[in-house]
Amino acid sequence: MAMDKIEIRGGGDLHGTIRVSGAKNAALPIMAAALLARGCSLIENIPRLRDVETMLGILRRLGVKGGFVGPNSLELDCAGRLDPVAPYDLVRKMRASVLVLGPLLARGGRAVVSLPGGCVIGPRPVGLHLSCLHGLGADVKVSHGYIEAETPGLSGGEVQAGGPGGPSVGATINSLLAATGAEGTTTIRQAAREPEVVDTAFFLQAMGARIEGVGSETIVVEGGHPLSPTQYRIIPDRIEAGTYLLAGALAGRDLRLEGAEPPHLTSLLSVLEKTGIPVTQQGGGLQVNAGPPQGGLTISTAAYPGFPTDMQAQVTVLLSLAAGESRIEETVFPDRFMHVPELNRLGADILVKKANAIIRGVPGLAGAPVMASDLRASAALVLAGLVAEGTTTIRRIYHLDRGYERMVEKLQTVGARIKRIKD
Ligand code: UD1
Repeated sequence: MAMDKIEIRGGGDLHGTIRVSGAKNAALPIMAAALLARGCSLIENIPRLRDVETMLGILRRLGVKGGFVGPNSLELDCAGRLDPVAPYDLVRKMRASVLVLGPLLARGGRAVVSLPGGCVIGPRPVGLHLSCLHGLGADVKVSHGYIEAETPGLSGGEVQAGGPGGPSVGATINSLLAATGAEGTTTIRQAAREPEVVDTAFFLQAMGARIEGVGSETIVVEGGHPLSPTQYRIIPDRIEAGTYLLAGALAGRDLRLEGAEPPHLTSLLSVLEKTGIPVTQQGGGLQVNAGPPQGGLTISTAAYPGFPTDMQAQVTVLLSLAAGESRIEETVFPDRFMHVPELNRLGADILVKKANAIIRGVPGLAGAPVMASDLRASAALVLAGLVAEGTTTIRRIYHLDRGYERMVEKLQTVGARIKRIKD
């Protein structure tokens, strides 16, 4: 693996326009959903990311043909017979690989998918995925590190896609994909309401699926309708948009975001409003200007429409520089604070107590070498580097390549002094 570094010289304004790419977390499930229709689907606005390459690798391994036919247009030919095995060497790279379980069961009655294992943001169980698939008539067991699921034919049922900790995005999507291919009616309770879940359902509808209630806590699927391949354009990435909005909040001078979907950013926009950072909607875009942020905020991450856990690390950077003491409670992934010690090395004053980050605002940050630990933590370090005095070097930036399309180039076009150093 290339061990490139990013070097940022902090200070200076970000001015100009950044275009938001397609949503990673919509691209991955929609690629898996394409498995359901025999034939060739065309998916547009797919971001060029390592996670997308990983999903493509898994689909090819399963027997799918196709690839990119334009910069962001992906053709997937799922007409042939599918091999139901997704091996460890591919699945271990990305948890979203488990999303092929539902479609493989629906297509061929059998799926053998490696258990994805944990990751640095904490334990990531798949129990809900498995109980939902069981509820739709699959026999599911875990042995030798593999999930083995089998069914003589999926049938509709009632499934619960959430637990005490709230709804699961992945379990909701796996249920949706399996239920679309199951005979009869399925009710998905405690369904996740994320825009990416809705986008996946819209893609399925475009293929001919009958789905009601998407975007609410209860989704009803009338399964078994014939599906045909389709052409579909995925939504913009709200986490990428949010990350650049925060870059603008920290260092923007009329920084414009093009192609963002403001209704998907409501919780972040309301946090920015509380910090006193002006964000305006203009035409198809959002415009943001840096200002001295007001602190003293209390934020809890939660399932959509709550504040996204995927924005927690990035908003911590802004609150680190906001007057007063703020607190962020992480209710989705309580261990997700790997970025905190690194931000403290840049001069932030953050204390982690159980699942809370207590952030005391400091007047400024100072550049230093730091280490990225996961995708969103890496983005937070880039944001910090943009405003830190002097030079910040970030190692292990391969995490960024998983989820941000051409991040260095996009920031360069708005004047950031950032570069990638090949190893
Ligand atoms: C998705 C997103 C990820 C985001 C997360 C939460 C994708 C590809 N990834 O991940 O970027 O951080 O939603 O918004 O869309 N849980 C269980 N049992 C399960 C599954 C999940 O207890 O079987 C718990 C998790 O530990 C967590 C909570 O449910 O506490 C939410 O996780 P989930 O929504 O499933 O996350 P992902 O779908 O993996």
